Amino acid sequence: MGFDTEDFKAKPVIGILNTWSDLNNCHTHFRDRAQEVKRGVWQAGGFPLEIPVMTLSESFMKPTSMVYRNLVALEVEETLRCYPLDGVVLMGGCDKTVPALIMGATSANLPAIFLPAGPMLKGCWRGETLGSGTDMWKYWAERQAGNLCGEAWGELEDGIARSPGTCMTMGTASTMCAVTEALGLCLPGSSSIPAVHSTHARMAAAIGRRIVDLAWEGVKIRDLLTEDAFHNAVVTDMALGGSTNAIVHLIAMAGRAGVTLTLDRFDEISRRVPVIANLRPCGDYLMEDFYDAGGLTALLNRVRGHLRLDARTVNGRTLGENIAGAEVFDEEVIRTPDRAVSKAGGTFVLRGNLAPHGAVIKPTAAEPRLLSHRGPAAVFASYADLKARIDDPALGLTADSVIVLQNAGPIGAGMPEWGMLPIPKYLLERGVRDMLRLSDARMSGTSYGACVLHISPESAVGGPLALVKSGDRIEIDVATRRLHLDVSDEELEKRRAAWVAPARKFARGYGKLYEAEITQAHEGCDFRFLRDGPETPEPDIF
Ligand code: FES
Repeated sequence: MGFDTEDFKAKPVIGILNTWSDLNNCHTHFRDRAQEVKRGVWQAGGFPLEIPVMTLSESFMKPTSMVYRNLVALEVEETLRCYPLDGVVLMGGCDKTVPALIMGATSANLPAIFLPAGPMLKGCWRGETLGSGTDMWKYWAERQAGNLCGEAWGELEDGIARSPGTCMTMGTASTMCAVTEALGLCLPGSSSIPAVHSTHARMAAAIGRRIVDLAWEGVKIRDLLTEDAFHNAVVTDMALGGSTNAIVHLIAMAGRAGVTLTLDRFDEISRRVPVIANLRPCGDYLMEDFYDAGGLTALLNRVRGHLRLDARTVNGRTLGENIAGAEVFDEEVIRTPDRAVSKAGGTFVLRGNLAPHGAVIKPTAAEPRLLSHRGPAAVFASYADLKARIDDPALGLTADSVIVLQNAGPIGAGMPEWGMLPIPKYLLERGVRDMLRLSDARMSGTSYGACVLHISPESAVGGPLALVKSGDRIEIDVATRRLHLDVSDEELEKRRAAWVAPARKFARGYGKLYEAEITQAHEGCDFRFLRDGPETPEPDIF
């Protein structure tokens, strides 16, 4: 390797876990950032070693990156356990890379700092600002309605992702990086810095310096991941109007740290904490605006009354100390609570005979008329079934119909981001832009609409969603958190007796392990054998 003993003697060995890959457009800048982290580690008297780990590229993985979150977590855990490392920098950003790195590092329990990839710069098309995902969905609906030609669509594709970095709406990547900062695992303010800013490179070097000290201090990741830290993460998620995906990931991350975090806790906090970030898909602006408006520290200072300020963070200070005095520079982007984008938090938890273990909805992203609604179900047994039939006018759907997708949960299909179910073309042409849609799938954090997601238990294990038939009436009342299938208990019992479980898909390999061990959405979709338990012995017991 060309190292001399003097290079590493009596120095903390710092692993830099890098999720760079040519397959991940969001992490294009990570080779440079790893060098900048190394610069900081050398400066502080540590010995840096860069270690590649599997990336999770949201745009390219099939069937969905969600299936591989736990595989990366397992890889990270064992990498940290089997090599002689004293501290670790976790480099991630694109959606599932964030929980995967943190879940693995939590189980291995070393001193750790998270380096957020940072959002990409704003998009632009014909003078209009474009946001990742959100505007793609919006203009795709226009294209389906016949209002946008192929040439314009091509221009739009060229204009929507113009730099390295993660999706710059308040999608899953932005949400997960922000909640990770709120957990105390990032340097203050780092999650808001755009990927290509020079400040981002300086932040990487600062992380390199700090991780060396953290290793000497012996502060491990689980020392920081307390119940208070998870409380702060949920408050942050709600104040941001964050991605619904954060719920599944935070529950899994808390499980690794031995902290109990339930769906009800999210709902309880969402009732108290207003959405004050005016960011797409719930609002108007993008992450670059958010950073210029003061970023996460300024937002947290605005909701400090809801936070547990004594929670410790990686820089050795408390969260309260880190956000003290952080100012807002644009009152439109980061609102005051009395001018909130929504008085209640971003994600509500629904329950009822259709979702005994819960379901989630992001009401700020839905048409208000659909938040209290009753309509006839149009049921599709799979996504292939939905694609084949949704545009058939013979189905006779109206704006009041309720589109239901079955078998898209963790076991059914790997819980992909299908939850923003397509609206029939003939209704789009008539100007319909939102309908009530139900599934056991997830939805991209950049998506919007009256989409009820994560219905648990899922239909593939016989959850009540599997029993819905076309024409059944479904009722939703978001204010009272009610989701109800208007079918008698006797009839549901009859249908349950006749229900046949779908065959499992995998006879070998990772898929077989996945099907055997995956938990349901309300439990975080972690593998049963990876959740918190007695300390795992060092590999040298073999
Ligand atoms: Fe990577 Fe959106 S595709 S963050």
